[in-house]
Amino acid sequence: MADARPFHWEFVPEQVTREIFRIEGGMPLHGEVPISGSKNAVLKMLAAATLTGERCRFTNVPEIEDVRVMAETLRDLGVVVDHPAPNVYEVASGDVEWLFVPLEAAAKMRASFMLLGPLLSRFGRVIISNPGGDRIGRRPVDLHVEAMRTLGATIEYRNGYYFATAPGRLRGTEIRFPFVSVMGTENAMLAATLADGHTVIRPAAQEPETDDLIAFLQKMGADIERTYPDTIEIVGRRRLRGAEHHIIPDRIEAGTFAVAGAVTGGQVTLTGAPCEHMTAFLEVLGRVGVDATCDGDRIHVDGRGLADGAFRASDIETAPYPGLPTDIQPPTCVLLTQANGVSNIHEAIFEDRLEWLAELNRMGADIDIVDKQHARIRGRTPLHGAEAEIGDLRAGASLILAALAADGESTIHGAHHVQRGYENIERKFADLGARIARLEEGTVSTSS
Ligand code: UD1
Repeated sequence: MADARPFHWEFVPEQVTREIFRIEGGMPLHGEVPISGSKNAVLKMLAAATLTGERCRFTNVPEIEDVRVMAETLRDLGVVVDHPAPNVYEVASGDVEWLFVPLEAAAKMRASFMLLGPLLSRFGRVIISNPGGDRIGRRPVDLHVEAMRTLGATIEYRNGYYFATAPGRLRGTEIRFPFVSVMGTENAMLAATLADGHTVIRPAAQEPETDDLIAFLQKMGADIERTYPDTIEIVGRRRLRGAEHHIIPDRIEAGTFAVAGAVTGGQVTLTGAPCEHMTAFLEVLGRVGVDATCDGDRIHVDGRGLADGAFRASDIETAPYPGLPTDIQPPTCVLLTQANGVSNIHEAIFEDRLEWLAELNRMGADIDIVDKQHARIRGRTPLHGAEAEIGDLRAGASLILAALAADGESTIHGAHHVQRGYENIERKFADLGARIARLEEGTVSTSS
């Protein structure tokens, strides 16, 4: 660890401009919307690029705040991050001089913790802050830390930081998770690619973004393969090389725009959409009565059944892939407010990811939050414009959906949460005919 720079023990509040979305709802959306690259894929690729000193190039990178935060975090380490064109990033990690990931990065984005595995494995040490991310329940990182210890690392936790060391190389081993963790799996994968020997990860995440990361690591020369649906095996290499990769499309963004077409009673075509990764969600749309058809990489959503009151209630439960993604649960709840009957919601992945439904009730929904992980939606209720506050990324996008479906004007505070994960969301909605604007509200501190 370079001693010249002091540790940033205190979180320095940053000034951000607070913005609002102002939305005039009740207009059916029509037209085509291009789907951007996947947030949950690209953030791990940017971390993976630190496994080599050679240059890596990424295309189809979404222009979102989380990518900018990850790029800044890497630059602070001494990594060269170039952004030569829109949606293109290049990363060269030849001179990593500062193996310290501060609270400033971690507080903004949980995925900063993805730097633990690659930095530890390549450099043998890192100090990394305990991450924050969305406020959607207790989100510990114990599985990541235990996986690194199983690979032979020593990790101590002091003052909010993990101090991790691995003199010599990490050692390949069997990593058994008690349950599936997406980033836990991916952090272990990245660490194992440079470890000495054979690693087996089980049960491993089956998310498409995890497979996209495997594809990128293979291009880097890693010996990594999914050998069974829930098993990933890796034989560590001494070094990896630079590679180029086109990021897969974002299935959560696609799902969000599909719901927008449905709840406004419009007709929307998603272009460049990952139909094959959206089976569980498309099945829910079918049960509700939304006409959604796949045609290559285009998904046509016809929500005209809304006008006839033809949408039907449906019980949903989130699950790891290939189940219904927890990230698409909030938009699906907006859809279910427009379906006739009672829908039971079981959020099985995260605690507290249903709290935002109280904001939806303020817009006219009839929802009982039964407990932290269960809710009951009674539909169909007309939605009306209201003032609402965004608490996290996916709830934020869902409040926009509700406002687009509602009669009258809505003011949605906390736009920055949505910019973390959606490229140009207001522009994409406006291109579909929505009346939406992102406006400045004033300047406040992020720590408030
Ligand atoms: C990733 C996604 C996030 C998505 C989530 C579940 C990224 C950047 N984020 O988050 O959008 O909602 O998968 O699909 O890819 N857990 C522990 N200990 C740990 C790690 C996780 O108890 O060390 C728990 C979590 O609190 C949660 C469950 O495991 O209850 C699953 O979380 P996990 O799959 O790890 O989510 P993330 O990888 O953080």
